[in-house]
Amino acid sequence: MKTIKVNLGERSYDIVIGRGILKLLPAYLKKLGAGSDAYIITNPFIRDKYARPIANILKKNRFALRFRIIPDSEKSKSIATAMSILKDIAAYDDKKRAIFIIAIGGGVTGDLSGFVASLYKRGIPYIQIPTTLLAQVDSSIGGKTAVDLKQGKNLVGAFYQPRLVFSDTSTLESLTLRQLRSGFAEVIKYAVIKDGKLFAYLEKNYPDILTLKMQPLESIVESCARIKADIIQRDEMEKKSIRTMLNFGHTIGHAIEAAANYKGYNHGEAIALGMVAASNISLKLGLISDVTAQRIEGLIKKIGLPVRIKKIPAEAIIKAHYRDKKFIGSKNRFVLINGIGKVSIVENVPLGIIKEVLQNLAG
Ligand SMILES: NC(=O)c1ccc[n+]([C@@H]2O[C@H](COP(=O)([O-])OP(=O)(O)OC[C@H]3O[C@@H](n4cnc5c(N)ncnc54)[C@H](O)[C@@H]3O)[C@@H](O)[C@H]2O)c1
Ligand SMILES: [Zn+2]
Repeated sequence: MKTIKVNLGERSYDIVIGRGILKLLPAYLKKLGAGSDAYIITNPFIRDKYARPIANILKKNRFALRFRIIPDSEKSKSIATAMSILKDIAAYDDKKRAIFIIAIGGGVTGDLSGFVASLYKRGIPYIQIPTTLLAQVDSSIGGKTAVDLKQGKNLVGAFYQPRLVFSDTSTLESLTLRQLRSGFAEVIKYAVIKDGKLFAYLEKNYPDILTLKMQPLESIVESCARIKADIIQRDEMEKKSIRTMLNFGHTIGHAIEAAANYKGYNHGEAIALGMVAASNISLKLGLISDVTAQRIEGLIKKIGLPVRIKKIPAEAIIKAHYRDKKFIGSKNRFVLINGIGKVSIVENVPLGIIKEVLQNLAG
């Protein structure tokens, strides 16, 4: 078991990572003093597989609890769902209760739960129990909470840090290969932006990770959580362009998701394509060598993530790209690399280069 501290003054919290650690949760909650009444937000599959056992442990330790089941879909990240949960929490609340939220599931559950927690009574404590690789390495850490609007994903939200992140890596055993790969895309992102050694480790050990060997899985969750915690500590609110580096592969990735209407490619697959695009743009601008670009594409391909964009024309991606909220005025802004582990934020990348790279990736 490993504990990583996210140092944010009075908003500091621990990320606890390990196999079969859920039984330790009550002790952590008691120490935190987050509350006595757990409001558990989860989806139907996770409720049966993981949340019920957690609830039983909590009950044995004299926590009161209430379940809120949300549909297993990105559509749950909506103002309507958030509002309905807020009303349910208010109905559950009475003067005797000290309510805190526990999010059990992937990024959808975590983002929505954090959003609700930030709003109820101007903020109540929430705990993240992430159960996807993506959520364990990325979305559960850092306090970006959000719901979607029809105009775009994650448009309404707040920075609101959890009080604890509890990542039991044994929950990853039930992920489908596709979900595992999707989280792997974010793992590659961390390696490319921050950690050449992790990149080399992934090149060597990816088969063990894809076959869910626990030791390497735990080790990559820990490495990524450490990188993210470090970035959050230095730039919690994304004011200094440090947190921006986490968007490597996401500028084009988000545009691909939007151009495909959030169908076809899942987040990790779109980000994989975005990372190939970003590394090819870096290559065209002379920031990296051919060999480096090939290593990145090679690893993504070995994982079984896409490296060619199917059925979405370059023009549609560029159009979606210019609607992205990450634009500052009319300038585009890309997280590019100078090498594996070295980021460079570049503004005003010529449209011709973006177009050429996307056209070369059409397949
Ligand atoms: N807040 C952030 O910083 C941040 C960062 C990255 C992504 N996100 C958000 O995260 C969301 C994507 O997260 P996700 O990929 O975890 O998606 P998700 O929450 O939809 O989970 C993917 C699928 O895996 C299932 N699942 C979850 N745990 C499982 C398990 N242990 N075994 C089997 N199946 C399991 C879910 O039910 C779902 O069907 C997006 O909404 C994205 O915007 C947020
Ligand atoms: Zn992402």
